[in-house]
Amino acid sequence: MTVHLALVLARARNGVIGRDGRLPWRLKGDMVRFRALTLGKPVIMGRRTWESLPRRPLPGRTNLVLSRDGAFEAPGAVVCEDIAEAIGIAREQAAEDGADEVCVIGGADVFALTLPRARRIYLTEVEGEPDGDVFMASVDEKGWTELSREAHPAGPDDEFPTVFRVLERR
Ligand SMILES: NC(=O)c1ccc[n+]([C@@H]2O[C@H](COP(=O)([O-])OP(=O)(O)OC[C@H]3O[C@@H](n4cnc5c(N)ncnc54)[C@H](OP(=O)(O)O)[C@@H]3O)[C@@H](O)[C@H]2O)c1
Repeated sequence: MTVHLALVLARARNGVIGRDGRLPWRLKGDMVRFRALTLGKPVIMGRRTWESLPRRPLPGRTNLVLSRDGAFEAPGAVVCEDIAEAIGIAREQAAEDGADEVCVIGGADVFALTLPRARRIYLTEVEGEPDGDVFMASVDEKGWTELSREAHPAGPDDEFPTVFRVLERR
């Protein structure tokens, strides 16, 4: 079985994805989606995203953390100094677990680094313009096909409406 790389990403209309080392919104619906998409799959993240997690490691998933600091310790996770190493380990783990995807879960540099190799993007468009300090450019959708799109009005535990999209490389 081929193990593909997928980005799981939530982005506001103004490109914001983070603020003060945390997510810049409260979106229960997207947290539920994130868990469902990533559970049982290895997840690759940058060191700051790791530090932002309220609960570390993310349970039910092999957690891989990228850091240039070889001495960085992330209890319950595998620390890698190099993205190719992280992807290699994650793919092996996915194959062992019978998972068909490795999920890249941020932040900005790690998304940019892995986008050229990604086969899918699970994109949550956050229909708002929150303040933030971490941004991502919009995906150039030439070369991508939309597999699905679901618009969700904001529920009682969502700060903004969202659109859940799945993009696949042509
Ligand atoms: N909306 C979303 O989908 C989403 C997803 C994830 C995170 N976020 C938010 O984004 C923010 C965190 O993201 P961020 O972009 O600031 O940081 P990040 O990407 O999570 O972490 C950056 C760190 O990762 C390591 N790193 C990056 N590239 C590397 C490479 N090529 N090789 C080795 N190590 C590398 C470095 O760690 P060292 O400094 O240790 O060397 C770097 O400082 C938070 O606010 C978080 O809540 C949002």
